[in-house]
Amino acid sequence: MSPEATARFVRALSDIVGKAHVFTDPDMTARYVIDWTGRWHGGTTAVVRPGRTEEVVGVMRLCREFGIGVVAQGGNTGLVGGSIPMHGEIVLSSERLDAIEAVDPIARTLAAGAGTTVAEAQTAAQRVGLTFGVDLASRDSATLGGIVATNAGGVRVIKYGDTRAQLLGIEAVTSDGSVLTRWKNFTKDNVGYHLPGLLAGSEGTLAVITKVLMKLHVPPTRTEVMLAGVETIESALALTDALRRAGLTIEAAELMTDDGMTLVLQHRKLRHPLGDSAPYYLLVEASGSPDVATVLLETLEQAGDLVVDATLEHGDRLWEFRESHTESVNAASVTPPVKLDVATPVAELESFIGVLRREIDSVFPSVRLIVFGHLADGNVHVNLLDADPAVAQRITEFVFELVVAHNGSISAEHGVGRSKAPWIHLGRSAVDIDLMKAIRHGVDPAHILNPHILPANSAPPTAVARSSARIPPR
Ligand code: MLT
Ligand code: ZN
Repeated sequence: MSPEATARFVRALSDIVGKAHVFTDPDMTARYVIDWTGRWHGGTTAVVRPGRTEEVVGVMRLCREFGIGVVAQGGNTGLVGGSIPMHGEIVLSSERLDAIEAVDPIARTLAAGAGTTVAEAQTAAQRVGLTFGVDLASRDSATLGGIVATNAGGVRVIKYGDTRAQLLGIEAVTSDGSVLTRWKNFTKDNVGYHLPGLLAGSEGTLAVITKVLMKLHVPPTRTEVMLAGVETIESALALTDALRRAGLTIEAAELMTDDGMTLVLQHRKLRHPLGDSAPYYLLVEASGSPDVATVLLETLEQAGDLVVDATLEHGDRLWEFRESHTESVNAASVTPPVKLDVATPVAELESFIGVLRREIDSVFPSVRLIVFGHLADGNVHVNLLDADPAVAQRITEFVFELVVAHNGSISAEHGVGRSKAPWIHLGRSAVDIDLMKAIRHGVDPAHILNPHILPANSAPPTAVARSSARIPPR
């Protein structure tokens, strides 16, 4: 765009949202164009912060008129570069769309703007004696629009499912400025395609999410947290299974390794939570009995040799060891870490991690590997520290091929974004990818919504291109 056209565009943006909510000064836009890990660094024409749905409509119409790409951004906590503008797109920040509109304790739902943080939603639910079912370490910054757009997982998937499973309704603005509203305060609404479910995980490519209607849950009466050191992943799985068979409800079951624990202890200056270290650590939060602690202790006793050492606590202290992994990895790596969120069937995790460790040691000896994640979902976060950016691609390919060889998925809960787009064929068939492109082309024929991520849409499938309607003039 010429400098004159850019100036006209920015002026028109200011007319829609007010001058105070359009940033073009690099000092002001800096924090919106770099991701949390420092790996993805782009540039933007402008950051715009609409305060109402009508303003989002105006922004979308303007962008379509000028042919400018739009990257929607929530708390900027994503780990696949999906909300960073890499080609001058505008950043449409949901920061001001942050009102909690209603918490319904009878229907057990929460209605809120896309910019509401997960922590704010959790607090609002707690106020009426309920719980918000998505939880993750970035809760203070991650937004509801962001967790829906990426179909975030987190540590409670084992109990409540992923974000999509808890999404009842949505308001979103399409690229031509239409407002989609699916908003029923109950589950049984079975009229045609489940569009909220389609928008969940669409990573800003189908519409800009402005409001969400989420399910809430009745919280457990009493929970206890157990941290156990184990020799193998098989032992961690057997212990989790034994706890279930003892009648407990597993609220979360998380996996750590000794390398990861050591990094956290150094970074957070903490003392080791157990008397003996072990190759793996299982953190379980459990409920479901008036005396959870006794059931946990009895099960640990029966587990005998499965467990190296263990401790129990009521409260969040033991969670700190697990939740500090991401920041400890970032702080310890001399290059931005390569972060690969993958899943395998639980039965294949042990073999996957074993082969991964051996092969990284032998093929990339200068790279440090830290694995942690959500044991019960077979979802592990493969973190490669000190990797020379020149080998990041080769190492990613190597890990993904190993994932595929173990019948896994190259993206479990973080999405595809930019970092995984070149490998999407490893997770989806050609038919599947073509169908996604067709949907995308049908919904956003101008290709302005986060144009460079997921299966990029620069060349829509020919059959679709031929039959697609013209963009109506405005
Ligand atoms: C986690 O489980 O802590 C997150 O997915 C973040 C990460 O992968 O670093
Ligand atoms: Zn995770």
